[in-house]
Amino acid sequence: MKQETIAIHGGYEYDPTTKAVAVPIYQTVSYAFDSAEHAAALFNLEADGYRYTRIANPTTEVLERRVAELERGIAALCVASGQAAVAYAVQNLTELGSNIISTPQLYGTTHTLFAHLLPAQGVTVQFAESDRPEDIEKLINEKTRGVFCESVGNPAGNVCDIEELAKTAHKHGLPLIVDNTVATPILLRPIEYGADIVVHSLTKFLGGHGTTLGGAIVDSGNFSWSEHAARFPMFNVPDRSYHDLIYTEHYGKAAYIGRCRSVYQRATGAVLSPLSAFLLLQGIETVALRVERHTENAKRVAEFLRGDPRVAWVKYAGFSDSPYYALAQKYLGGRACSLMAFGVHGGYPAAVKFHDALKLVTRLVNLGDAKSLACHPASTTHRQMSAEEQHKAGVRPEMIRLSIGIEHIDDILTDLRQALDAIA
Ligand SMILES: Cc1ncc(COP(=O)(O)O)c(C=O)c1O
Repeated sequence: MKQETIAIHGGYEYDPTTKAVAVPIYQTVSYAFDSAEHAAALFNLEADGYRYTRIANPTTEVLERRVAELERGIAALCVASGQAAVAYAVQNLTELGSNIISTPQLYGTTHTLFAHLLPAQGVTVQFAESDRPEDIEKLINEKTRGVFCESVGNPAGNVCDIEELAKTAHKHGLPLIVDNTVATPILLRPIEYGADIVVHSLTKFLGGHGTTLGGAIVDSGNFSWSEHAARFPMFNVPDRSYHDLIYTEHYGKAAYIGRCRSVYQRATGAVLSPLSAFLLLQGIETVALRVERHTENAKRVAEFLRGDPRVAWVKYAGFSDSPYYALAQKYLGGRACSLMAFGVHGGYPAAVKFHDALKLVTRLVNLGDAKSLACHPASTTHRQMSAEEQHKAGVRPEMIRLSIGIEHIDDILTDLRQALDAIA
């Protein structure tokens, strides 16, 4: 099926008892056992079924199947937020003393997780000088367990060369993990270019309405954890915490995501609520249509901003002189994302004046909503970083990040124009 169809039908067959057409909300914590033997079979992962919603839930499972299908993965785990998805995706394949290599252009909280929290737990993250594969490769050593990037960086708007990054990672026996939140599986499916694990903040374009937090980790099933058993013992040796289960033996190609659910979600519990899963499923039904309008509106906004003398620069991968133009043609089908950044003349004070004068475009820290949104990264999402770290992440003091919504383009442009007038 095509993406538009998967977004509506993927992962769900009408409920066998009620024939409910909308996905039912199974708002339950537990599931009844027929007998001790039945319970034991469920705990041994020998029988199909549910035990407890911290491990799996039928509503959430529809969302997991739908996101996995949209991303061409074999299975997915949905969790409470995009941040939980990023953390689990990395923690699931690292252990004390190991490291991962990351591109420098990251969402601010992912940077915080990588630069501060994971190192405090004994897993270091090396940030490459740039998103170029050669800069990533330089940092790989025998303790490296994976390469991480955002397919389209937030807020830098860089487009990663996924195919080349995957080749570099694979050459060293490592998986490539891609955060595909900004691009969405409508514009880009990283697994088709060699990515092994894809993560999402479902909170953004997939949910689409700024109502519900959620995250997803998608397993391509393509990385051979058993071939690299010395580097990834967690998938290949008996797990004492789970009656000596060996994940590669039990789950086969789905060993990574099986362990993520059985170990991380079970023991640390960043669970998506069934009601949130239902709301996210409603959003996903229209994601293809929304992304079409988002990208059309974004192109008009980028052209408008570039033509205004009060604007110093516009970063938009849809401009033919953008360093990311060729990559946007290859990976995004020429439809640059609706997340863009621009700088106003007059530095930090002018950016703040513009930001504060907006009337229709909402000031907040979010992206991917049906509504147009603006944020000043230097004072919000990237505030915790040093000036040097901000610079590497592509954040400037005069920079405004826009997430262009699906309102009528005339109304968006009118608001941007009056806010630019307010700078003077
Ligand atoms: C690229 C990216 N990844 C992950 C996240 C974290 O997602 P959440 O807010 O759902 O935890 C965000 C949030 O803005 C993001 O932009």
